[in-house]
Amino acid sequence: MEKEWQERENELRAALATTETEAALEEIRIRYFGRKGELPRLIASLSTLPPERRREKGREINSFKKWAEAAVEERRAALASTSPQGPPLDVSLPGRPISEGSIHPISRMLRRIVDVFHRLGFALADGPEIETDFYNFDALNTPPDHPARNEQDTFFLKDASLLPPAPSRKGGRLLLRSQTSPVQIRVMEKQRPPIRIVAPGRCYRRDEIDATHSIAFFQVEGLVVDEDLSVRDLKGTLELVFRELLGREIRFRFRPHYFPFTEPSFEIDGLRPGQSKAGEEWLELCGCGMVHPKVLSGAGIDPDRYSGFAFGFGIERLLMIVEEIPDLRLFTENDVRFLRNQSSPV
Ligand code: DAH
Repeated sequence: MEKEWQERENELRAALATTETEAALEEIRIRYFGRKGELPRLIASLSTLPPERRREKGREINSFKKWAEAAVEERRAALASTSPQGPPLDVSLPGRPISEGSIHPISRMLRRIVDVFHRLGFALADGPEIETDFYNFDALNTPPDHPARNEQDTFFLKDASLLPPAPSRKGGRLLLRSQTSPVQIRVMEKQRPPIRIVAPGRCYRRDEIDATHSIAFFQVEGLVVDEDLSVRDLKGTLELVFRELLGREIRFRFRPHYFPFTEPSFEIDGLRPGQSKAGEEWLELCGCGMVHPKVLSGAGIDPDRYSGFAFGFGIERLLMIVEEIPDLRLFTENDVRFLRNQSSPV
């Protein structure tokens, strides 16, 4: 008798162990517990036994039933925890397209710009966005009473103790740099001429946000220091770069301007063909000039031996011209319709 139940248990155990799906498990369950299954058949067979055997046999059947139910449930739980949820995978279906991201228009433009300068032998330089009075203003020959230092235009930081240590915190109050020009000073402090660098990066100014103004924007700074540099070098370099970026037919105008850290200083305007002759519209492209001797000597470079030229221009502005983008805010809203429209392979 013992042996009979042992065999039944072994049989069910073996069947469960090789069952891999819910459906197959259900078949086993029906085979044992279904209306015409093993257990109803066993129970029905009780009636053929003499009454004194029934009780004992009935108990055996009952204990097998309990064991079998538990074994089936245990297998069901094991399958549920390993089998994936949802409908079965049909590997013959066509794949769902994955929408790819794209390079942000600003990054794309920066890469183009850096690439053009790279070909001219410029190295990439970098500086912190949290600057000091010294680098952002003093060292750039911007005296304390200069209008650009007006607190209206600059974000100052109150609590320096919260900040990670910067490469150098020489000089005064902490602020968000209002231009990339402080990178010039950081490079000249570390490197001797010849120097030829570009430094793209983010700048901050306190401004009302509208279609053409933002509190954060990108600039590209450039600095060249060497012997015998003159305005010719400045002009030749920048005309070449802007022709690369905006097209060969662009016309230039160098307007005298004032920047504290250059002397003489200019602003470069560009005119692209196709723009109306009647209302000729010159577009401001870039500020530039010959590095002021005070800036050179302040950074430990002898202005009698070396001269330099420098320039700085805004990326958003340039992109707005090149790609005819009407509103600066589109660059930061991250509306995928805009980003998708602007994207092209890099
Ligand atoms: N930093 C200037 C600005 O934000 C731009 C600029 C002008 C940079 C002349 C220069 C330069 O390096 O020589 O308006």
